[in-house]
Amino acid sequence: MFCSQIACRLWNLSIISVLILTFSNILLIVRLLHSTDCSRQQPSASEPLHLQQPQVQDSRTSKQSHESPPQSAPCKQVNSTAGPSFTVSTTNTTIFHVDLQLGRWDSRHLYKLFDFALPGDQYAELSEKYSVCLATQSSLEKLQSLVQVAHHWSGPISAAVFAAGDEYPLLQLYIAFLRRCFPVVRDRVSFHLAYPKDRPPAKVRPDFPLKPKLDCRRPEAALANLVRLRKPETVKWRMKAAYPQNHLRNLARRNCQNPYVFLTDVDIIPSAKLADGLDVFLKDAKCKGLCAYVIPTYELDERVHFPRNKTDLIRLARKGLARPFHHKVFIYNQFATNFSRWQASAGKEGEAVHVNHNVTNFEFLYEPFYVAPDTVPAHDERFIGYGYTRNTQVYEMFVAGYQFQVLSPIFTCHWGLQNKKGRPSWRERQNSMNRRHFETFKSEVFARYRKDPLKMLSPKKPLTKR
Ligand SMILES: *[C@@H]1O[C@H](CO)[C@@H](O)[C@H](O)[C@H]1NC(C)=O
Ligand SMILES: *[C@@H]1O[C@H](CO)[C@@H](O)[C@H](O)[C@H]1NC(C)=O
Ligand SMILES: *[C@@H]1O[C@H](CO)[C@@H](O)[C@H](O)[C@H]1NC(C)=O
Ligand SMILES: *[C@@H]1O[C@H](CO)[C@@H](O)[C@H](O)[C@H]1NC(C)=O
Ligand SMILES: *[C@@H]1O[C@H](CO)[C@@H](O)[C@H](O)[C@H]1NC(C)=O
Repeated sequence: MFCSQIACRLWNLSIISVLILTFSNILLIVRLLHSTDCSRQQPSASEPLHLQQPQVQDSRTSKQSHESPPQSAPCKQVNSTAGPSFTVSTTNTTIFHVDLQLGRWDSRHLYKLFDFALPGDQYAELSEKYSVCLATQSSLEKLQSLVQVAHHWSGPISAAVFAAGDEYPLLQLYIAFLRRCFPVVRDRVSFHLAYPKDRPPAKVRPDFPLKPKLDCRRPEAALANLVRLRKPETVKWRMKAAYPQNHLRNLARRNCQNPYVFLTDVDIIPSAKLADGLDVFLKDAKCKGLCAYVIPTYELDERVHFPRNKTDLIRLARKGLARPFHHKVFIYNQFATNFSRWQASAGKEGEAVHVNHNVTNFEFLYEPFYVAPDTVPAHDERFIGYGYTRNTQVYEMFVAGYQFQVLSPIFTCHWGLQNKKGRPSWRERQNSMNRRHFETFKSEVFARYRKDPLKMLSPKKPLTKR
């Protein structure tokens, strides 16, 4: 040994301090990643589709007061590999493989549609491996939910996205950001595109910052930053224009490659590992005839962590922190699912996905999220905007003779407890427009199946949304 005792001691001390520093660094990084807030709704300028008013709250501080420790919440599995910030240049935002002069028109020449504008890197392989595909749809300002959806759903995801005017380059920026920051999005999600004839893709406004701030740890904030940069004219148009949900649903469904499709809206988050459990169930599903498998949907208080399993969800429900989706806003929406019956059978550890019970009290206006072969009737594209979009398709399935069966212990959640609010006038207008289409639709359904199990054609039946 060449060093004196003192020098050696100093050397050891510095090694130890380097080690301590390294460890505290690692700890800090881990903590930072864990503070990624991956689920909250973000306030946005135009929110024409949903009943929920986005809430601004400090999720960190309020979350702690209510709920269990954060370590194992699936929401924390958000995996970002690109480091804290993602630098994008807005000189070339092109990531979609589309020729805007081509594409396919819808049957009324209102929207232009593109299949596989951008396929997921593993989409084809995952489609081979799984028997079920998640089909979902979104407008630009809700797309952040896809991060949590893709973390919870390990199978293929077929996502139809809508953009008008200068939302088009912003949409590509945001999808580039998601793909860069979240490998699960890049691998699992295939994007399909729809734009309106009235507002074809346009360039970003001239004062658009060359490098908008996009932080991988804050996907919602990144989206909010981009959405805020839309032209005021686009925002105004979007507020009033009816959103073509059914076009998007069909677009997403038709691009699934699997025997079964689970159709949702983008803010419906599957429970953890749902795809794997469901896949095992479907691979030996014994249903002969026409079956659709309902996966119960709950709405969650914004302050809690995403429930890890059914037991966890029921515990939240007992505390009033979770409840059936639309329970206060429009109870018929999910009522026939019979949540009390679902909650009555508490899950056992490692329990396989199974049918808990059959839907026995089907009613018009029931609109569960369900899994079925994609041979179920299409979503009627005459219904645009609010009202009669999803429930008419479910109604046709019922008339056609589908049996709805409720699965357990899997579920989906929507962030935010929703309460009744006044209806904006645009929604009333869209609803009454669709009500008129419904008069035709129900006669057509009758003509097609020669059945009227809910007595919809009897003149006394009130047809308004209750
Ligand atoms: C995060 O990504 C890395 C690299 O892609 C991967 O090795 C790791 O397993 C991922 N972790 C989770 C929790 O998905
Ligand atoms: C923009 O980038 C895409 C993909 O990186 C590339 O295919 C395209 O040619 C670029 N466009 C221009 C105008 O540079
Ligand atoms: C729910 O199930 C219970 C039996 O478990 C039944 O008594 C009740 O009528 C059902 N409700 C609905 C709405 O189906
Ligand atoms: C649900 O999750 C909790 C917490 O991780 C666990 O203790 C419990 O055993 C799980 N229950 C079931 C039925 O898997
Ligand atoms: C549920 O419906 C299926 C399909 O019609 C039927 O085979 C099954 O017996 C029903 N189960 C119960 C418990 O009624």
